[in-house]
Formats: sequence, structure tokens, C-alpha cells
Amino acid sequence: MDKIIIEGGHPLHGEINVSGAKNAALPLIAATLLCPGEHTLYNVPDLRDIRTMLVLLETLGITYHYPEPHTLVINSDNVEGFEASYDLVKTMRASVLVLGPLLVRLGRARVSLPGGCAIGARPINFHMQGLQKLGAKIELESGYVDAFVKGRLQGDTIYFDFPSVTGTENMLMAATLAQGKTIIKNAAKEPEVGNLIDMLVAMGAKIEGRGTDVLVVEGVDGLRATATTIIADRIETGTYIAAVGTAGGELTLRNCNPAHLPSFLEKMRAVGIYIEEKESSIIAARSGPIKSVDVKTMPYPGFPTDLQAQIMALMTCTTGLSVIDETIFENRFMHVAELRRMGADIRVDGGRAIVSGTGTLTGAQVMATDLRASASLVVAGVAAQGVTTISRVYHLDRGYERLDEKLRRVGAKIWREKE
Ligand code: EPU
Repeated sequence: MDKIIIEGGHPLHGEINVSGAKNAALPLIAATLLCPGEHTLYNVPDLRDIRTMLVLLETLGITYHYPEPHTLVINSDNVEGFEASYDLVKTMRASVLVLGPLLVRLGRARVSLPGGCAIGARPINFHMQGLQKLGAKIELESGYVDAFVKGRLQGDTIYFDFPSVTGTENMLMAATLAQGKTIIKNAAKEPEVGNLIDMLVAMGAKIEGRGTDVLVVEGVDGLRATATTIIADRIETGTYIAAVGTAGGELTLRNCNPAHLPSFLEKMRAVGIYIEEKESSIIAARSGPIKSVDVKTMPYPGFPTDLQAQIMALMTCTTGLSVIDETIFENRFMHVAELRRMGADIRVDGGRAIVSGTGTLTGAQVMATDLRASASLVVAGVAAQGVTTISRVYHLDRGYERLDEKLRRVGAKIWREKE
């Protein structure tokens, strides 16, 4: 197992190329199960979660190759397997994304219930209720969701109690090949959902309402394989902006989409970070002191929960008071105890964290507990006085492509060692 070591206090200067979005690539890979053929995906990030998804799809019968780095070609002619096992689902909850596509392709899907995870209970009841509404028979047996349908699913209206991202994606994939019209109300509006809609429409699906919370899917009789580009990772982009906020300096983030970070970029300006938005790049710079702001995580276009840990690390470097409300996941403060080890003053009360900025942090031995918590420790570590050692970095490798290498190239003193 690797650990990451950071000697803090070196400002960041230079350019970073942002990778394709993990949370867009995962549903798009799952969507290749919908119909036979050779599907091409461009800008696929090289991540542990992507490799896990491909292992899962291989067990179902696909083959794949990379004709060049980041271009993934999946052949899904021979999909016969219908089960996502506990061993795979427990390492990556996004495995649940195969539920909808397998059900419509094979009439049967068996997917392990994910169980709890580091950031909350994360049930999948919306996915199951939605598919039931479209006519699937669903049984829960020995920790597995067993879904069946004879013939085609039937379009209906689905209302989500909360705009679930992967729930919306599963319903979209299932509804494309259902008979008749499906209306998804209170759908998630995240850009990753839009990327999936673009792929499905290119495959021949009929979907209206992209970018809104009401999606109307007119079922079609068949789909065809196509080629799609994965959008840039807005969370990776935001993580580097938070890092320039703590460490200082100026970064140009290339191949990203500023339009996908509306609330985050506004917050960064309020913090005192200079932000210049271009068509596909962002310049982020910090020279003077930074100010504290309050943050409340919300579904898109609100402040993303996936950047909450990183902005908390940034807030510890101010000298003010910041109130951070986490409204999406009930237990997403695992980074707090680790940031405290670095000298942060943070009080947690339920879903609220109150950060009293101490101006500086000091390096310490800390442990990565989940993906975004790990990222926050890097954001803290590049600014901390002294050396920070982050163990269990496999969490980071699930969702950030060569984060340490990218930061090293712009001046951070960061390296990897074997534990
Ligand atoms: N929820 C339910 N029932 C469901 C589904 C969701 O109660 O059936 C609740 C969840 O417990 C949570 C809320 O609804 O409180 C929102 O969850 P959502 O379903 O939107 O989350 P997700 O689809 O499981 C995706 C991302 C997460 C990201 C969230 C929120 C992927 C693969 N994962 O998860 O990404 O935090 O949306 O934006 O797209 C990460 O990348 O680090 C990560 C955790």
C-alpha cells in the first residue's frame, strides 16, 4: 500500500490538465450494456474505480481495449451474465448502475445491496422503486436485489423524493428501451447526468428535458453503439482550486468546464481567490489572505458535497469562522478528525461543522478514510508547516488520476512511498 508525503508551504505555479470525470465515465460505461456493438468512449480517466467497473462488466461478458490512452472501446455483443457480486459492489457502490441496463437487455439483473459506506447509509430504494414502477418484479434475497421483467418495461411516471444522481441515471437507462413514455420528476441535474443523456440520445434514445428536473423519455425499440466524450471532472478541478487557495500561487486548469462549477467558483471568489473563467480553462490565483465563508451542500447547481471536505480544509487556513452544512450525506465529516490532527479547530454538531480558522496548519500523520476526505488532506498538506504523511491513499487513487504527479509538476513537494 502507498502513502503520500507532502512537505507543505510551497506555492503552486503552472498548468494542470484536468482528467475526464469519474462520475460521468462510470454510468457511460454501464450504458454500453444496453445494446450490442462496439462503443467508444473518449477522455476516460485512468482510475481504480474505472478498472473495477471494467472488471464487473467483463464478468458479464463484455470485452474491451484501449487503442490509445484514455480511449476505451467496449464490445458488448455477448452480454450474458446478470450478476454484480458483493465482492465488487462493496468496493464500488456505482456498480449499482448495471441494474437498469441489465434488466432491459436480459430481462434479469441480480445486484448485491451495497451496504453502508464511510459517508452514510446510502440506500438504493429509489432505484428499486423506480424500476418496480416500470413493471419490474423485484425481490430481496440473501443481500441481493433480484430484478426480473417479462418482455419490455412499461413507461410510467417516477417521482424521486430526492434528486438521486445514480438513481436518475439508472432510470434513464431503463426507460430508453421501455414501451411508451417515462417521466422522471425531481430528477438530478448534475452535468454527469447530462453527459449520459447525450450518449443515450446519440445511441438513438428519445429524451427531453436535459438539464432540468423533469426528464421525459419516449421508449424506442432499439439502440445502437456510438462514440461519446466524457466531460471534464468538475470535482478534480475544484480540488486543485482549493489547493491553490491554501498553498498560494497561480494555476491554469486546462480541459475543464467552468460552467459546471457555478456555486463553487462563486464561493472561491468570495473567499478572495482570483478566478478567471475561459471556455475550457480556469485561471485560479491567490496572493493575499483568504476570508471565511459559509457553505451548504446542495444538489446541482448548488455547492457539491464532493467538494465539501476540500473547502473545509481551505477554511481552516483562514482566521475567521465558517459554518459548513452537509445536507446530502449524513456522515461525511470523516476528514474532521484528521484535519484536527493537523491543528484545525473544528466542531461538529450533527450535519454542521463549525470551523474556527487558525491561519495555518501543521504537518502530521493522517489517514485517508474516503475519496474526498483524502483529497482534503492533500489540500491541507500542501499548505501545512512541515511534513504531512497520508496513509491508505488507495482511496485517492479511486477517483483522482495521478494527483500527486500533477501537483508535483506545479511546484508541490509531494511524493509516494510504500507503507
Ligand atoms: N438516496 C436515497 N435512496 C436512494 C438513492 C439515494 O435515500 O435510492 C439518498 C442518499 O442516501 C443521499 C442522497 O439521496 O442522501 C443523494 O444520493 P445520490 O443517489 O445522489 O448519490 P449517488 O448517486 O449514490 C453520486 C456520486 C457521489 C456524489 C453523489 C451526490 C456517482 C458514482 N457517485 O452518488 O460521488 O457524492 O452522487 O452528488 O456518481 C464521490 O465521487 O466521491 C461520490 C461519493
